[in-house]
Order: sequence, then structure tokens, then C-alpha cells
Amino acid sequence: MPKRTIVSMPGDGIGNAVLPEAIRVLDAAGFEAEYVHADIGWEFWCKEGNPLPQRTIDLLEKHKIGLFGAITSKPKSDADAELAPELRGQGLVYFSPIVGLRQHFDLDKCVRPCRTFKGNPLNFIRRGADGSVEEPEVDVVVFRQNTECLYGGVEWSNPPDLVYEALMSHPKFQQNFGSAPREELAISTRIFTRRATERILRAAFEHAREFGYKSVTVCEKPNVIRETSGMMLALGKQIAKEYPGVALWDTNIDAQMMWLTKNPEDYGVIVAGNMFGDIISDGFAGLVGGLGFACSANIGEEVAIFEPTHGSAPKYAEYEISIVNPIAMILSTCMMLDHIGETETAALIRNAVAEVVAEGKVRTYDMMKMRGRPEVLQQGAASTTQMTDAIIAKLR
Ligand code: IPM
Ligand code: MG
Repeated sequence: MPKRTIVSMPGDGIGNAVLPEAIRVLDAAGFEAEYVHADIGWEFWCKEGNPLPQRTIDLLEKHKIGLFGAITSKPKSDADAELAPELRGQGLVYFSPIVGLRQHFDLDKCVRPCRTFKGNPLNFIRRGADGSVEEPEVDVVVFRQNTECLYGGVEWSNPPDLVYEALMSHPKFQQNFGSAPREELAISTRIFTRRATERILRAAFEHAREFGYKSVTVCEKPNVIRETSGMMLALGKQIAKEYPGVALWDTNIDAQMMWLTKNPEDYGVIVAGNMFGDIISDGFAGLVGGLGFACSANIGEEVAIFEPTHGSAPKYAEYEISIVNPIAMILSTCMMLDHIGETETAALIRNAVAEVVAEGKVRTYDMMKMRGRPEVLQQGAASTTQMTDAIIAKLR
């Protein structure tokens, strides 16, 4: 079989520390592939006025599978100030390249597993009624619609005539916003399509059926956001009929956040629109180790990109020896392996991670609840490389 080619996009900051380490684990696990580097991130915004160069899109178009590290986004004023002088004043606007990739390749399904690793000191614990300590085992997979909703980019400040007139034709707009000066209006739209909503729901139910989850929870807010959330819940009820072994639950995003620590072990698959999926996936990730453990997949019909959900942490990228936890990136590569059918290699690596965490001898600073500073290495925390080495040593 010809070797697979994977597009490697380390991006900014610590993306450059964790992605090469994850590839080292893939190699050690016997996964045969070639990796082509692709440019993405802040550096290319500054130098070229585009954080997502066409050549990177071309590589993904060709090879279909990408690994992504992290990117830095800064507020508008910084983005303008750091742009190369010759590019200024041309009306270039910074946009998040990961959101750009999701839109460009219609990576409409975002999958974010949040699972407890036994022995992780960061696991959420709860006091029992008798004062005992409980450590609920969380096994949640969030299915986040990844392209629509508030991320669709349909926004205006001081909306143009056509938009304003259309909005004024809605009685609620007239009543609630009609007296506001037009130039003081900022409008971001929440748009759902039936197609994309059905696709994320169906993906969630398929996953539940395949992996034996007893429920799919639609986490939206249909009591207030009647059209979009309402459509997702209505379609959820319809699709649920095709999956008799899987119960449909629905919760409101606000209540779900409140219940997060009450009964996280009761949930299985959770499905939500883009913005609420963003929120709820961070919520559950926080119960199982946080950013150092949060992995994700962005999946479209043709292209799929796998990324840890942490940011680029530019400060940490300057340390001489990297201290960041590579596990989120490594678990993201396991999701890639599952996606391309290399499930045994994925299981091998996940088991190695589980063993290292359970043993507790090698822990990065976050797992030791230290503040991230270079000195943590003298205080017993493992470096990025040491954690990777420990995982590699358990591959068998
Ligand atoms: C995520 C992140 C991104 C998002 C940011 C970096 C644009 O929070 O992947 O969850 O909002 O989708
Ligand atoms: Mg997020």
C-alpha cells in the first residue's frame, strides 16, 4: 500500500512543540506515513497578510488529512499593527485560520471526546452526602456543528439599507431595536440549515449506536431561541425514531453548565450548535484534565483535520525546554487514526497514555497543578519531551 501523506500544520507557539512530538509517537507506534509541512498562522498574517495561505489549502485538497497544532489570534488593533508595512492600508482583515479551514472545506462535524483517565490528578471530584469523595467517571463525546450558527460570519455594524429594512419588517425588531440609532447597532446572526443540523444529529446518533452510548442529549435553548434551537430539537426528535436503542434527552445550555458537576457521568453523546458546542465541550473538558487533554476532530465529506483544543500559549513557546502537555495533541492523532481506519494503532497509543497517567510517575506541570514556569522542571514536572518518551516507552 502506498504510504499516506499527512499535512502537518503546527501553526503558532506551542503548536510547534506538541505536533512534532505527536508525530514521534505515531512513528514509534508503527504508523507509516509521510508528513508535509504546511504554513498557517500569525507569522503568515504578518508577512503575507493571510494566515491561511492558498498553498496550505492546496496541500489539504490533495492529501485530505491534516494535523493542526495551534494558532495565535490577536485583537484587531494588534493585527493591523503587526502587519508588514507594505501590506498596511489595503483593507486586509485578520480571520481565524482554523475557523477558515472549517468553512473552506465544510468540516461541518466537530467531535470532542471528554473521557476520564484513571489516576489523573486533574479529574473532577465531588463530595458525597456522607462527606466521602467521589470521582465520577466521565465518558462524553460532544458533537458540535462546526460551520454555522454565530460562526457563519454574517454580521454587521451599522447595517446597510437592505438589511436594516428587512430587519424592520420584523415586529420584534421594530419593537425592541427600532428606536436605536442605526449606526449604534451591532448584529451577529445565528443561522442554521436543515442539512447541516441533520448531519450533526445523525453523526451523533450513529456514534452512540456504534459505541454503545445510551443517550444523545441535544443541548440548545429552544425555549428562547425558537427557530434555530427549535429546529435542532425538532429534527433530533425525528431522527431519534430511527435509533430505538438510544434515548433522546434535551437540556438547555445554561442548565447543562450548572449540572456539569452534578451528574457528568450520566451523559453520553451530546450534540449542539456551533457556539453552544464550543462552550459545552470546554465545560466537559474541564472535568477530565482541561486543555492538556482536550482533543478534537473537524470532519467533512472529503477533508478532516485533527487538533488539540488548546491555544498557542505564546509565552510558553519561548521557554528553552517546552513544558506543555503533549497529550491533547497525541489524543488528536488517535482520532485521526480512528478516522482512517487504523483503530488498533489508535488503541495502542491511547492505552499507553492511560498507563502513563495511571502510573503517575511522569506528569507535566498542569497535572501537578503548578503554575506554568520554566522552573517546574526542577520541581519534578516532566517536559513535553519527557512525557512523550514515557508514552512511547509504554507502546506495546
Ligand atoms: C475551539 C476554539 C475556536 C472556536 C477559536 C480558537 C476560534 O475555541 O476550537 O473551540 O471558537 O471554535
Ligand atoms: Mg473553544
